[in-house]
Amino acid sequence: MAAVVPAAGSGVRLGAGLPKAFVELHGRTMLERAAAGLLASGAVDDVVAVVPEDRVAQAESELAHLRDDDHLVVVTTGGAERTDSVRNGLAALTAHRHHPRAAVYDVLLVHDAARCLTPPDAIRRVVAAVRTGAVAVVPVLPVVDTVKQVDADGYVVGTPDRAALRAVQTPQGFAPDVLLAAYDAAGDVATDDAGLVERTGGRVATVPGDPLAFKITTADDHSRALAELDPGSP
Ligand code: CTP
Ligand code: MG
Repeated sequence: MAAVVPAAGSGVRLGAGLPKAFVELHGRTMLERAAAGLLASGAVDDVVAVVPEDRVAQAESELAHLRDDDHLVVVTTGGAERTDSVRNGLAALTAHRHHPRAAVYDVLLVHDAARCLTPPDAIRRVVAAVRTGAVAVVPVLPVVDTVKQVDADGYVVGTPDRAALRAVQTPQGFAPDVLLAAYDAAGDVATDDAGLVERTGGRVATVPGDPLAFKITTADDHSRALAELDPGSP
């Protein structure tokens, strides 16, 4: 089974002055941590990292140690939107289809580099749900805040029942033909891959996510990630 790791964003909200996936956490980039975490789950054979064009060489060298006879690790370039980047990653996988390691995958994962602290168990739960028959799977957490729907002027138009809401993480898992068909049908962008499957009428299952699968988006998130990795640090 294979995982596409979108890592081609610019990281505007983090504001580190370099593409977010190449920001280091205690000496290892988010991309390298995310790719290593997927392989360490034992559930992932092959990884496609999708990076900005001027970071391909860096990604190749940082991920080289993860590559062996059992694990294909491919680097390709991203696009303007996350959807474009994932699409490029899927195309790279298809291009490597005839590689001896990449015959036919039973599961495809899509996993944000920015969720690089995701524990192996969370990854395995997603894979297991696809292997037991779900065509699309998202890891979720309960929503703790009350959520309001507002109109264009900021006035509240509704309060969805919080008990029925979930915050969605990655990796998201898919039966390969379902994900590829959803991307083929997608004309525009979606904030998550399962959203594209929903639009094609596919049923999306949920499994429990993990607080550590949080997305590193802002400087506060970056500080939290450093503290999670090294609880003794200030
Ligand atoms: N991503 C990508 N290609 C893009 C945009 C995003 O591969 N054109 C990836 C990011 O690298 C990240 C994941 O998608 O791993 C989730 O995106 P996000 O957290 O929004 O990261 P950035 O787009 O880099 O951050 P920002 O939106 O603050 O610029
Ligand atoms: Mg973004």
